[in-house]
Amino acid sequence: MTVQLVRPTLDLFDSWSAAVAEFGAGHIDGSGLTAPVTGDRQTLEALIEKASLLADTSAELPEDSVHNDLYWIVDEGEVVGFLSFRHALNEYLREVGGHIGYAVRGSRRRRGYARAGLALGLDRAREIGLDRVMITCDDDNVGSFRTIEGAGGVLQDVTDQTERGHARLRRYWITL
Ligand SMILES: CC(C)(COP(=O)(O)OP(=O)(O)OC[C@H]1O[C@@H](n2cnc3c(N)ncnc32)[C@H](O)[C@@H]1OP(=O)(O)O)[C@@H](O)C(=O)NCCC(=O)NCCS
Repeated sequence: MTVQLVRPTLDLFDSWSAAVAEFGAGHIDGSGLTAPVTGDRQTLEALIEKASLLADTSAELPEDSVHNDLYWIVDEGEVVGFLSFRHALNEYLREVGGHIGYAVRGSRRRRGYARAGLALGLDRAREIGLDRVMITCDDDNVGSFRTIEGAGGVLQDVTDQTERGHARLRRYWITL
């Protein structure tokens, strides 16, 4: 296993498209895509443009947006998942989204890809100088909270986010 974080690129279009298809049309955490999700070329071209704008720390973003590295979790040329690293928290991210979101395609789960992808995401957070990051997950998302706890996450609280469609949400901090 040689896991890397790769920014969206047309070079991996086929693999990205297959990964997206595995999630159906629903939301994919950390993908930067808006549901209903489609894995076509035009969508990827728009994603590449969006990713490069969000990653450009010299660019001014709309007030409700923060700089964000949109990555694919890639193993030997295959897109196995998605990871988004938000450089800062706005009000919504502080309550619900956190600094990092991720998803691994169904056929590639339980092989350590979330763990490996998150470790690389944390390296990136160190690189831009953060001291700690917040990561959230639904209270019953065992795979996600085990991933976060495995990376050293300390539970801050569990809040009721029913109004935002999340039921109960765990908020963790990882010290870098
Ligand atoms: C949560 C998710 C990212 C985990 O990805 P993954 O690649 O299967 O996770 P890993 O193989 O790296 O496993 C990490 C840890 O979680 C555990 N784990 C993963 N899935 C699990 C499950 N369904 N039940 C119990 N434990 C699970 C692993 O055993 C491992 O724990 P360990 O280190 O103590 O052995 C994946 O299930 C997913 O994409 N889910 C849908 C999207 C999502 O929920 N994203 C997170 C939003 S906060």
